Order: sequence, then structure tokens, then C-alpha cells
Amino acid sequence: MTNNSVHFLLNNDVVSIENIDPNLTVLQYLREVQFSTGTKEGCASGDCGACTVVLAELDGDNNEQLHYKSINSCITFVGNLHGKQLITIEDLKEQGKLHHAQQTIVDNHGTQCGFCTPGFVMSSFALHKHNNTPTRAQVLEALAGNLCRCTGYRSIIEAAITSSIGVDDDSFAKHYQQTVQTLTELQKLPTPVLTGNGHHFIAPKSIDELAYELVREPKATLVAGGTDLALSVTQHLASIDKLVYVGNVAALSTIEETDSEIVIGSALPYSKFIDTLHHYYPDLGDMIERIGSKQVRNNGTLGGNIGNASPIGDMPPALIALGATMTLHVNGVERTILVEDYFVDYKKTVLKPSEFIKSVQIPKPKTGQILKLYKISKRIDDDISAVLAAIFIAQKDQKISHVRIAFGGMAAIPKRAFAAEAELQGNCLTKDTVAQAKQALTLDFKPMSDVRASEKYRMRVAQNLIEKCFVELQSQTIATRVVNYA
Ligand SMILES: Cc1cc2nc3c(=O)[nH]c(=O)nc-3n(C[C@H](O)[C@H](O)[C@H](O)COP(=O)(O)OP(=O)(O)OC[C@H]3O[C@@H](n4cnc5c(N)ncnc54)[C@H](O)[C@@H]3O)c2cc1C
Ligand code: FES
Ligand code: FES
Repeated sequence: MTNNSVHFLLNNDVVSIENIDPNLTVLQYLREVQFSTGTKEGCASGDCGACTVVLAELDGDNNEQLHYKSINSCITFVGNLHGKQLITIEDLKEQGKLHHAQQTIVDNHGTQCGFCTPGFVMSSFALHKHNNTPTRAQVLEALAGNLCRCTGYRSIIEAAITSSIGVDDDSFAKHYQQTVQTLTELQKLPTPVLTGNGHHFIAPKSIDELAYELVREPKATLVAGGTDLALSVTQHLASIDKLVYVGNVAALSTIEETDSEIVIGSALPYSKFIDTLHHYYPDLGDMIERIGSKQVRNNGTLGGNIGNASPIGDMPPALIALGATMTLHVNGVERTILVEDYFVDYKKTVLKPSEFIKSVQIPKPKTGQILKLYKISKRIDDDISAVLAAIFIAQKDQKISHVRIAFGGMAAIPKRAFAAEAELQGNCLTKDTVAQAKQALTLDFKPMSDVRASEKYRMRVAQNLIEKCFVELQSQTIATRVVNYA
């Protein structure tokens, strides 16, 4: 094996790839290089789930376990496979016998044209690898990123609910220890590099190595999950000269707690920190569950969400309202800034050449502090926000002792509503102060109109969200949230 290649397990076989364009997605690699056409291409943008495959990664305190996760192969670059096991629909069948995740689809009449079926099976397979008795809600969460346009979901859901039998003794379970051992060996190989078609990919193994690469090539493009970046290739037909993958740096994929903070490494995917954040801030956990789909949350990272500097990214308004900080690193030198100060103008940030986001520090709540989050989109699952409101508030002696309000979708950057805050800070939470805060929002924002929402709608909904927060703080018994919708 040379170090001018990327190594991974395809099912149970070690595959080494070299001389392949690193702009290739896993889906293109499977269909056009491996000629494994069981994995389908629908949208090529992460929206339909037809391309779902499963990755097994080393996990646990000593990396002695496997973590199985569903991902969208259409928006994952092939280099990101290094050191992992790629499992596709072709790999499930054993000695001519369908895997139980497939057989239950047959038994429940869960397929018609069959185009979506491999994707549903892979999502169900990943779910059952970690959860033998999923609830209906957990099944819906696992399948929400898969679309079917002809069968209807009832039979597919039924199939996924009953498909746990046999997962414990499938071929992956039988090869478990061997897979752990092989992946451990692959991880020890020199830094993976992939070069093809004049494009380059490197997956540094440490923060120092990553920093060195970026100093050497300040114009290189960082890639984490690729759930945002890969769209520039699949939708806008761009090609990226040099990709530097951050997901191979263990120190960027950690979550730690101090007495006062939760520290999240920039390359940690959502699905690995959602539970911790839900524990401290339930609304934040609920909101993260609405970021993309399970496949997107399994690969997408906090660093990528902040790094793409989108005005409609969901995490920044929440982080700004919470007063979170972020640590930036360049060539061994670090600085810590407020997330609020990171965004300068549309897609412009304070990130310097060669600098990268190392971690995000989220303060733990103090007594009485509460975070209210409201995501407005056309669908509950797998949809981009038109407006996102984040309100962090505390009351003492019937007065608002602390308030920070931030919005996404209301300006070119995620931004605080200073005028609205000023109307609330130090005052009692009454209908009048809330009305004044709603009016003050017109001083804070001049929202734009686009396909998601008009300027007028955005302003009205933002104002109404302040009122909704007020209603919820007044009474916990009034039903204000959509629950059990599927
Ligand atoms: C179907 C679909 C649904 C989605 N739904 C949502 C949604 O509901 N809400 C939402 O907010 N987003 C959504 N997204 C967007 C995206 O998934 C998220 O923003 C995600 O967090 C991006 O993370 P990533 O690791 O995939 O980033 P990548 O695509 O790898 O990178 C994104 C950008 O960040 C930069 N970057 C990555 N890591 C770093 C770092 N450490 N330091 C500096 N820059 C860095 C990259 O260079 C790139 O410019 C969706 C995407 C898809 C495809
Ligand atoms: S092809 Fe639609 S999500 Fe990948
Ligand atoms: S069976 Fe045809 S799209 Fe689902």
C-alpha cells in the first residue's frame, strides 16, 4: 500500500484507490468505478435518500467498537471513506438469502417501482444495527430522509419496525472483530492522499498536520461532512483543486464538558452531540433533529455549518443567543471569539487565510436561563429555514434580567436583534413590552424576499415568534408546538 491512496473496506474487502479524481462522490465511485448500480441516484443533492449507504466507523473510548451510520453517498467525497467500512445494498444478501432488512420490505409489500427501495433498506439496516426495538418515532426519524413516490409509506414503515430480527447474526456481526482489527490497521497507515485529474485530497491526522497543510496551501478547501460543499460539485459543476479533510483529525471530533461549558470539536457530526445539547437545552436538541435528515446529521458537522456562513444556517443563531464562543487555529496560534463576531457580511467571515475552526464552546445554562428556538420552514423534516428565532432569556423578581435574541434568515448574516432586546431587558414580561419588542424588530432587520419567503412574511413571522415565546413563558400548558405530526 502506498500513502498516495485512500484505503477502506468495501463490505469485507480492503480497497485501495489511487489516481481517482477526489471530486468524485461515493455514489459516482460506486456506480461508475465499481459498477455497483444497486445504489441509486435521484437528486444528487442529499434530498431524496435514494443513494443511502452505510458507513461503519471505529467508535467507543478505545476505538474498539463499530458505529454504523446511514449517509447520502451523492454528497460524500470518495476520500472521506478512508479508514471506514462502506456497506452497500449489494453487500446485505448472504449466500443468496436476503438480509432481514430486505426481506421485511418484501413481506410488507413495501416496494413498487423499487427505485427508492435500496435507500430505505440501508436506512433501516443502520437503525437496527444500534437499536433492536426501535419505536415508531425512531423509525420515522431514521427514514425521514428517504422519499418514495409510489408505494406509500405505511408498508415501508411497517417493514422497518419489524426488521430487527437477524441483525445480530448477519455477515457484519460475524465479521465484527475482524472489521475492527482491519479498520484499526488502516488508521495506522500514513496520511491518506488522493490525486487524480489534477485535483488533490489529503486527510491530515493531527491538528499540527492540518495547520501545516493549510499554511502550505492557503487556498485549499476544507471539507468536513461535505453535505454543503459537495453540492458545489454535484449541482454547480464546480471542481475543487485541493480538498483538505478535517474528519481524520481525532482531536477535532471530540465532545467534552467542563463545569461551565460544552466544548464541541468542529468536525464532530450532529448525531454525536445532539443528545448532550438536548440535555442542557431541549429546544436546541429538538431543532438539531430538524437539520436535514438522519443521513445529513450523520455526516454534517458544526464546523461545516458555521464555516459555510449561510444566512440560513440553523446553528449560528442558537449559538449567538447562547453567547457561545469558537476557537480558531492558524499555524499553532489560537484565538477565541464570540460566534456572534465571526460573521461580517454575506458569506464573509473573520476567518484568515490558513485558519480553521477548531471548536465551539457553549455555556451551560445557569439557574433560570432558558433557550427558546423556533424554526420556520415549509416542512418539519429535512427542510431549510425561512426564519429561525433563538431567544435566550432569564427572569428575576418578575423582570427580564437577561435576554439575547438572534435570528437566521432575516439578514445577510445570522444576527442579534439589539433593538428588540433593549425593549425587554430589565422590564417585566407583559403584553406591552412584547408589543414594543415586536415593533423594534423593524429597526433591527430589513429582510429580503426570495423563494422561501417574502420580506413581509419574514418580518411578520419573526415578530410573532417573539410573541410565541412570551405565551410559552406565561404558561406551559398552552399547546404551541407541533408534535406527533407523522
Ligand atoms: C438535504 C440537506 C438538508 C440540509 N438541511 C439543513 C438544515 O436544515 N439546516 C442547516 O443549517 N443546514 C442544512 N444543510 C446544510 C449542511 O448540511 C449543514 O450546514 C452542515 O452542518 C454542513 O456541515 P458539513 O460538515 O457537511 O460541511 P462541509 O460541506 O464539509 O463544509 C461546509 C463549509 O464549511 C467549511 N468548513 C468545514 N469545516 C470547517 C472548519 N473546521 N473550519 C472552517 N471552515 C470549515 C468548508 O470549507 C465549506 O465551505 C442541509 C444540507 C443538505 C444537503
Ligand atoms: S441521490 Fe438523492 S439524496 Fe442522494
Ligand atoms: S417504490 Fe417507487 S419510488 Fe418508492
